[in-house]
Order: sequence, then structure tokens, then C-alpha cells
Amino acid sequence: MNAVPESIPLGGLSAEWARIELLTYCLGQERLGQMLSEQVLERLKELQAQVDGLRQWTGDSPWARIAAPHWDALTYDVVAMVLAPEIEPRLGWIYQQLQPGQTQPYLTLALVRELLALDEQESGALFALLDESAPLRRSHLIYLEGPVPYQTLYPGAGVTARLMDWPQQVSAPPGAIRVEVDAAWDDLILPPERLQHLREFLYWVEQGRTVIDEWGGDHCGGPVALFAGPSGTGKTFAAAVIANTLGWPLYRVDLGCLVSKYIGETEKNLNRLFDAAHGQSMILQFDEADSLFSKRGEVKEARDRYANMEVSHLLSRIESHHGPVILTTNLRQHLDPAFARRFHVVVDFPRPDAEARTLLWQRTLPPRAPREKDLDEAFLGRALTMSGGAIHNAAMHAAYLAAGRQQAIGLKHVALAVWRELGKDGRELNPQDLGALARWLPEEGL
Ligand SMILES: Nc1ncnc2c1ncn2[C@@H]1O[C@H](COP(=O)(O)OP(=O)(O)OP(=O)(O)O)[C@@H](O)[C@H]1O
Ligand SMILES: [Mg+2]
Repeated sequence: MNAVPESIPLGGLSAEWARIELLTYCLGQERLGQMLSEQVLERLKELQAQVDGLRQWTGDSPWARIAAPHWDALTYDVVAMVLAPEIEPRLGWIYQQLQPGQTQPYLTLALVRELLALDEQESGALFALLDESAPLRRSHLIYLEGPVPYQTLYPGAGVTARLMDWPQQVSAPPGAIRVEVDAAWDDLILPPERLQHLREFLYWVEQGRTVIDEWGGDHCGGPVALFAGPSGTGKTFAAAVIANTLGWPLYRVDLGCLVSKYIGETEKNLNRLFDAAHGQSMILQFDEADSLFSKRGEVKEARDRYANMEVSHLLSRIESHHGPVILTTNLRQHLDPAFARRFHVVVDFPRPDAEARTLLWQRTLPPRAPREKDLDEAFLGRALTMSGGAIHNAAMHAAYLAAGRQQAIGLKHVALAVWRELGKDGRELNPQDLGALARWLPEEGL
């Protein structure tokens, strides 16, 4: 078979990949000390012309999905070469043949220089293009790993899918855990103004194209929200409602875990996390965010815990990340006002009042369970000042108690379940802690 591809016009971006393949062929020949035939040079010229056409900034080339108007020929060349193996796998194997010892189908900086036959000055331009502060890196289209100047060049997450209009394959960023909660707006029990506030955060996520791309608004990163409130008031639940509304997965990052697990490596791991999350349709949730922004002198312990960590690095990564981030905290009072301004949306999660608690009991007790006559959610809502999380646990425990004893759910099951729930934190309880529910507490259950 002819090693030189046929001279037929190619659809989509095929001319890009055909040109790269021909360049690899030329390099192979050159390394063997072979001259290139006229036919090869002709074909190369032809492909070059087609590629130039594709890169005209007209907006209807597939390149418009990821490129920017200021891209020069070298930028296009590098991006095309880096993405090529994900689009034409055979190019990955060809790269490997040209780079003995390389275990991955991606090319190194050294191979880019060879393929494009860059001289010293042009190589300087290439290094500048791939500098950490250069637009190509800041927009996370490409990332580099390995020893200088033989770094391997990888496409950023989701970049190939965006260019090719392929479905995004979302994968968990390293250090993050998927949160799957089946939650909808109707299940979220919060005062109406808080629900409205949460919907406003959703606007920030959904309306980016309109406000930034169409209206020319500032691209200020994020959006970043802070959900503040006591434990069990529905912060994670609300994050799940937002994720479900968008149809995006929610990933939770435990800062404590991230730090203690990779002590000294935190910065690198954070970079990995954000690089992997970039461009992916997902929500990142960071818990225990108070440790990051406590006022000086307060929460000493937490600060010490994060002393090793580049707190400022994390903050700047969160701020420069393009994608929704939700930080949660139980300690709103420690929030530095200067810091609060860095969030696009701050939502306070209040402890539920009697009415909200009634609704929470109603929503959580299994709807088709057999019930005793005495089971009255409004009474429970008034009698017990518990968080939504505690109500959820107690209601489910009551249901299991009743099912285990083959009985209908009644106040005696709820009383015992609440007793168990309140006792979880290990403190000494006495029946008065159950308020008006105390008289249903079964003696034998204690
Ligand atoms: N406002 C609420 N509306 C509906 N359900 C709630 C609400 N608050 C809590 N719940 C229930 O309690 C469970 C636990 O709440 P969630 O995990 O969201 O609390 P949290 O505020 O994230 O707490 P933590 O600060 O400890 O992480 C939820 O899965 C849900 O079933
Ligand atoms: Mg939570």
C-alpha cells in the first residue's frame, strides 16, 4: 500500500490528522537518512493548504469550539498534535514508535520539535507557548508532565470531546468522591427565600453562555457558592438538588482527607483534581471550608492542620476554576467579611422551625408504612428541635424498629429512635431530652 495518503479532500478535521500522520512518516524517513520524494512533499503542501483553510477564524470550523481568534499556526499545530491520538488512535501508536520507551500514546515536547523541524528560535516560541502562565495552559487545553524538556503533553479533560462534539465522559477527579442523592426541589425543606437564593446560584451555572459569551460579561471563574449552616441542615442535600437539576454529577472533596493523605503533595494533588475537573460538567463540593478562611487567631487548630497546605494556592485554584464549586461550612461566624466577597453566592441554612420539622417528618416516614393512630408529625415537629439530618435518621430508624417487630409505626418507635439518635454523640441522656415525646419512651428499650 502507498504510505502516502491519497490526494482527496478530507471532511471535518481529517486533513489535520492526515497531515500529522504524514509528518510522522517524514520524520521516520529522515531518521533513516532517506530523502523525501516529490510526491510526499506535494501531498504535504496540499494538506498544509487544507489545514490553513480549516484554521481560518470563521466560526464554522470545528476548531471554533475550542480555539481562540488569536491562535497562531504553532498553537494550532501543537494542539492538533496533542489531541490527535484521542481522535485517530493509530497516531498514538505511531508516536510511541517514534519515542522508544514512551509507555503512553501521547507525544513529548521533544517530538513536537522534531515533527515540526523547529530551529532554536522557534523552539523558544514553543516553550513560551507552553509556559504555565500562557493562555494555552491557563485555559487547561493542554497539560504537561515529566522532566524538562522531555515533558509529555496531554490533552485537558473533555477537550477532545468538545472539539469533536462527542458526548462528554465524566470521570471522578482524583481525590473526589461521587455523591449520589436522589433529591429534587420538592424534597428540599427550606424557607422560600433560601430556595430562591439557591436557584440564583443555578442561574450562575446555566446562564454563563448568555452573560459571558453573548453579553460580553466578565469571566470571573466559578461560580463559587458558600453553603453555611449547622450539620444536617441540608447543605449536601441542596448541592445534590442543584446537581440533579443540571443533570451533572456531584463530587465531594474532603479537604481534611486530601491534605492528610498527601501531606507535602497537596499542591500537586489539587492541581490534578482541578485539571481533571476542568471542562467537565460536574459540581465540586468542598466540605469543612471554614478551615480555609477562618479569621486570624480563630480556629487555631484548623489553621495548624492546614499549615502545610498552600491555602492560598487552593483558594486561587478554586477561584480560577471554570465550573461550579460549592464550599460548605458549619462555622459561618468565622467567615472573614473580606473573604465572603470572593463567593458569588452565600446561602445560610437555618435550623428547621416547627413547621419545617413537621414537613421533614412527613417526607421521611415511609409513605406506605402501616401507622398507629398516635403517629402525628405536627406533634413531632413541635416536640423535638432536631435538624433535618437527625429527623431523617430517626424516622428511618423508627421504620426499621416497627418492621423488625412486625408492628405499625407508632410514637413508641419514634421515641426510641430519637433516643438513639440523640445518644449518638455519646452524651448522657435523660428522658426529658425527648420533651413531650418522653412518655412514649419504652422502658425495655433503654
Ligand atoms: N432542609 C432539608 N430539606 C430536606 N431534607 C433535609 C434537609 N436538611 C436535612 N435533610 C435530610 O437530612 C439528610 C442529611 O442532610 P445533609 O447531608 O444535606 O446535611 P449537611 O448540611 O450537609 O450536614 P453536614 O454539615 O454535617 O455535612 C439529607 O440527606 C436529607 O435527607
Ligand atoms: Mg454535608
